[in-house]
Amino acid sequence: MKKVKKAIIPAAGLGTRFLPATKAMPKEMLPILDKPTIQYIVEEAIESGIEDIIIVTGKGKRAIEDHFDSAYELEQTLISKEKFDLLKKVQEPSKLVDIHYIRQKEPKGLGHAVWCARNFIGNEPFAVLLGDDIVQAETPCLKQLINEYDRTHSSVIGVKRVPDNETNRYGIIDPIEQQGRSFQVKNFVEKPEIEKAPSNLAIIGRYVFTPDIFMFLDKQEVGAGGEIQLTDSIQNLNKIQRVFAYEFEGNRYDVGEKLGFIETTIEFALKNKDLKENLLKFLKSKIEEHEHF
Ligand code: UTP
Repeated sequence: MKKVKKAIIPAAGLGTRFLPATKAMPKEMLPILDKPTIQYIVEEAIESGIEDIIIVTGKGKRAIEDHFDSAYELEQTLISKEKFDLLKKVQEPSKLVDIHYIRQKEPKGLGHAVWCARNFIGNEPFAVLLGDDIVQAETPCLKQLINEYDRTHSSVIGVKRVPDNETNRYGIIDPIEQQGRSFQVKNFVEKPEIEKAPSNLAIIGRYVFTPDIFMFLDKQEVGAGGEIQLTDSIQNLNKIQRVFAYEFEGNRYDVGEKLGFIETTIEFALKNKDLKENLLKFLKSKIEEHEHF
């Protein structure tokens, strides 16, 4: 059985929820503390054993390529000023792994973005990681899915329970059978109405696929929201071969929308020993201030 060694990171979306910040800057470059969100994703892929990454980019996304490239002038300046700690931080992203890029000419949807990387993947199993979710776990989230792929030899979709009133924001699974954290799935439904959601197990930005998913992505069928949806192809793939959902362990942070982004920033800052004390003081003062209203 072929091992999962390649990953696709789609990053060609318009990032409308963060406009105007994302007018000229990719949303994937928005930082949590001092690191762009996409670097957390690349690090998770590497820690999961991925050897080759392809990032699907689009218009206005050059900053992502620059971030994972070397920055000669900046590095020379830091060397001449003997700022070696900063030099290490600047060099780190370019040393992580081999990163390849492909352009999605139009943001036609997540399914289309994955399809754009088909020639890079060829006839191998592969992973997809979305930058909207950062997961912190003892065993990296993608590694948990790859372990499940190795066990089942089938595509595996990462899921997490979400509050019942938020099911309309996600792809939701309709599970038939559960074995530990692994589910056999009857249907994958994109953004169901809250009353019609078959469960509260939501698809969260981490996938492992057999290359057969491309048979369905090739058809380029347009689904919900006028976009070529990845969930529709997963649903079709599940009709010809088993697709499992895996409820991964770990904390998931939704950095693709404003409140989640702010919460993640606060949580990560509270884990940082240089920031924790002063941030807590600030937060306490804000709570007191707002309790008067
Ligand atoms: P999102 O819908 O969360 O990203 O897609 P978005 O469209 O950039 O953001 P909003 O909703 O307008 O704020 C999930 C992931 O899929 C990528 C996005 O870059 C994001 O990482 N994507 C989406 C593409 O690469 N191409 C697309 O056509 C759509």
